[in-house]
Amino acid sequence: MIKRIGVLTSGGDAPGMNSAIRAIVRFGISKGIEIIGIERGYQGLIEGEFKVLSRDDVSEIVQKGGTILRTARSEEFKEEEGQKEAIENIEKHGIDGLIVIGGEGSLKGAYALFKKGVNVVGIPGSIDNDIWGTDFSIGFDTACNNVIDAINKIRDTAAAHERTFVIEVMGRECGFIAFTSGLVSGADIILIPEVPIDFPYITEKLKERQKRKKKHNIIVVAEGVGSAYFIGKQIEDRLGISTRIVVLGHIQRGGSPSVFDRNIATFMGVEAVRRLLDGESGVMIGWQNNSPVPVSLEEVAKHKKRVPPELYWEVECLW
Ligand code: F6P
Repeated sequence: MIKRIGVLTSGGDAPGMNSAIRAIVRFGISKGIEIIGIERGYQGLIEGEFKVLSRDDVSEIVQKGGTILRTARSEEFKEEEGQKEAIENIEKHGIDGLIVIGGEGSLKGAYALFKKGVNVVGIPGSIDNDIWGTDFSIGFDTACNNVIDAINKIRDTAAAHERTFVIEVMGRECGFIAFTSGLVSGADIILIPEVPIDFPYITEKLKERQKRKKKHNIIVVAEGVGSAYFIGKQIEDRLGISTRIVVLGHIQRGGSPSVFDRNIATFMGVEAVRRLLDGESGVMIGWQNNSPVPVSLEEVAKHKKRVPPELYWEVECLW
């Protein structure tokens, strides 16, 4: 029977993680479970950074970005020895269920622990939205809101100076942040790693816009495509258009989480505890059809989620 559940956040922080932690703590306590917060992700699991979380410890956190448990990208945990130490600590502290909130790599780590006998449930937390088995991961919506807020501002100065802006957004090898935020902010060209595009496409698009007397351009490029500086230089050299580069960087990951991220995080947190109490393990709580659903961690670890190229080409007529 489950009596003590540990929770950790791992990898890149994502706005909304705190709502998941709050839900886990409060729902768990309401079921008579002790909740242990593990600080600094898998690194804290190895180093034994554990603390009991009370209802009050998770007051006033839902509006904050980041994660109150802090996070890390643990190299040590990728090694057999690190995982062994982590499991020893789990046993030493009497933790009989573990909830891992994190992205692709962190969920692979959760699956590794599951295969070694740990009761584990994952929650997808990553601004990249690149986790298979879930329509959305915690933080993606807020990150896109941050991006469109920045694009709105850049558009003002782009229009005033009749300039072209190349705006680089995050996402690793996945283009969801660029695709979604570019699409909804009315970008003129969107470049994502899932759809390789050559310079003639870009120059043709820009020439066509010149013919239509469009004096400024917004190009959104996913970091997985390559350097925005290189793209900007090519545009200047090939077309003689005055171009500026903005790399949005970590601004995208910060700030108060959106309603959407807080909501999915809350219901995923509740579901994760419920599943552990029902004796389930080795699953991630995904978000599908507006509900939290269990998805096998093995499948999550096996597959990648990417922007479908056919979807890109279907809506390409909009920019
Ligand atoms: O996975 C989230 C993410 O923000 C990616 O979009 C980005 O490539 C990476 O993390 C940046 O990592 P770090 O914060 O370690 O520089």
